[in-house]
Amino acid sequence: MLLAKLMLDSKHTVILTGAGMSTESGLPDFRSVQTGLWQQEDPQRLASTHALQYHREDFISFYQYRIRTLRQCQPHAGHRILADWEARGLIQTVITQNVDGFHQQAGSRKVIELHGSLRTVRCARCNQSDESEAYLDDTFSCTCGGFLRPSVVLFGEALPAEAVEQAWRAAEQAKLFIVLGSSLQVSPANQLPLIAKRNGAQLVIVNLEPTELDEWADLVIQNRKIGDVLAETDRELEQRI
Ligand code: APR
Repeated sequence: MLLAKLMLDSKHTVILTGAGMSTESGLPDFRSVQTGLWQQEDPQRLASTHALQYHREDFISFYQYRIRTLRQCQPHAGHRILADWEARGLIQTVITQNVDGFHQQAGSRKVIELHGSLRTVRCARCNQSDESEAYLDDTFSCTCGGFLRPSVVLFGEALPAEAVEQAWRAAEQAKLFIVLGSSLQVSPANQLPLIAKRNGAQLVIVNLEPTELDEWADLVIQNRKIGDVLAETDRELEQRI
């Protein structure tokens, strides 16, 4: 498979994952035509600073649902393959838009979480953080009296500056930039493949459905599940190394 060859030729490979990386773990994505969360719900009403402020009941029950679902799911073999490739020096960094922590749980060490993490909640007043289990125990108030909100980036909020800085640097250094399971519709994460391209990287996009940036890609792998693509590529790499 061409992907294995591109990886072997690359001295610096960076991965960008989206929600499509975790659907095979049982977590719904956001924009898949049939099953995406935002096909049924309005993100502004549930996952935005506006929702936090003015639709708090809906906000809380949405994140209780997501935290409960997350606790029932695990990383899949594809997450473990990425961790193994990092350990073998085949990839250098994983930048993720996902908040599930599955890359780290599967053993990846260099993970940049652009959109925060659903693993913890933090106080909107004093910033103290706690396990997100608090939401499953109906605990929404910090000991200081502030409101505990999930440590994810809401629509209308800025991304963590350090994560952005690291992700931009990784994209600039990449010789091969591989997107796994993202519609590439959300900025600024969707700028990263173009930054890599502008700095001379080869761009690969692995996504069931077409994405906004397919025309810029050197290789597009569509209509195939990420788990299968990673497993097949891993077998090829085994044979070539
Ligand atoms: N294999 C390959 N592709 C898949 C798979 C799979 N098993 N499952 C889903 N996909 C594809 C879908 O076709 C879809 O185009 O993954 C893509 C996921 O796109 P989105 O649902 O838009 O998710 P993402 O790109 O990560 O969204 C970015 O939007 O709502 C915000 O903060 C949220 O981080 C998220 C951001």
